[in-house]
Amino acid sequence: MSTNNGYAPGLEGIVAAETELSHVDGLKGELIIAGFPLARLATNATFEETVFLLWHGRLPNQQELAALKNELAALRPLPPATLTLLREAADAHTTPMDALRMASATLDLGSGPQDHLATAKMIVARLATIVASYHRLRQRQEPVAPNPALGHAANFLYMLTGEAPSDARVRGLETYLNTVVDHGLNASTFAARVIVATQSDLVSAITGAIGALKGPLHGGAPGPALDTVFEIGTADRAEAVLQAKLEAGERLMGFGHRVYKVRDPRAEVLGAAAEKMFQADGDMALYELAKSVEETAVRLLAIHKPGRNLQTNVEFYTALLLHGLGLDTDIFTPTFAIGRTAGWLAHCFEQIKYGRLIRPQSRYTGVMNREWVPLAER
Ligand code: ACO
Repeated sequence: MSTNNGYAPGLEGIVAAETELSHVDGLKGELIIAGFPLARLATNATFEETVFLLWHGRLPNQQELAALKNELAALRPLPPATLTLLREAADAHTTPMDALRMASATLDLGSGPQDHLATAKMIVARLATIVASYHRLRQRQEPVAPNPALGHAANFLYMLTGEAPSDARVRGLETYLNTVVDHGLNASTFAARVIVATQSDLVSAITGAIGALKGPLHGGAPGPALDTVFEIGTADRAEAVLQAKLEAGERLMGFGHRVYKVRDPRAEVLGAAAEKMFQADGDMALYELAKSVEETAVRLLAIHKPGRNLQTNVEFYTALLLHGLGLDTDIFTPTFAIGRTAGWLAHCFEQIKYGRLIRPQSRYTGVMNREWVPLAER
């Protein structure tokens, strides 16, 4: 932590919330989600089970899980105002992340006080419909109506293409959504907590969090990470391409993390999920290429940025897995939001229950006692 008289730029090392949702150990490379080591939860649970776990602090029984699935499925269709906005955004060539940010704000037309849990279910259910509908509208295709017989992950893939996805792909996406569902006090989660801490509403918190997630230093990295793999093309070019980027002062997307100083445990889980999915239903050559790009990048980063411990982060294998699921690069970050929104909402519940208005201080570094000069004399 670098603090200077109480000032910590970027709030590095500052503890600003207590949470029962996830524990991130950046030195050990460990992530615990509501008591479960990440790999155990991510590879076994459906997304709905993870949502229930985060919102209720325990796994659901069969009836509770069936009830949550049914409720989410019933809430999936979008309000007309949201669809109208998405159609206009598609005509204006708005990016998917900006469309998601605008559309999420329309999910509550301010019709009065609401039960937090009911609002949270509505947000989780509809965020996936927004992303899939907008993807199709951008391609001049009509949105596919949600299929209430399918779970959240399967239905998202179905709404993108209109075709029932393979079991391997559904499992790949469940694992992905579970893996990114929560991660301590990351920037977007902090943004959501700051917003509800003022006793504002959940839709405002999620809309703000989406804005924070959009930036390339947070959730915007997987698209560029995949572009780099494609730009490299063959393993023998990895060294030259990455070396040139580093010499030009560029950051290698998908590497480095504020908290992890070892390999991000999410990279481990997503790398294994990608391998499994590519073996069952994909292009193993691309997986092998990505592995070799990763190895070269970590080696070159150690040379160019000694002592910085820049390792693979979640975004590198996010890119590979989501590409393998057939998703276009520009909906990688919106798909991250589909998973993370359950975590944002769980943090909002904690903040509402135990939290306090978040209001840090700034240190003034400007001039003092300025002389007022009348306009005519300036
Ligand atoms: N490639 C090259 N150099 C890097 C990288 C990288 N990926 N990441 C950090 N560095 C360098 C910086 O240039 C800096 O070097 P310097 O001290 O010589 O100036 C040094 O390492 C420390 O970097 P900071 O920016 O201080 O580290 P910070 O903790 O703020 O950065 C971050 C974390 C933003 C994730 C950074 O590693 C990065 O930009 N990575 C690439 C983008 C990315 O993958 N983002 C996704 C993160 S995961 C997530 O949010 C879901």
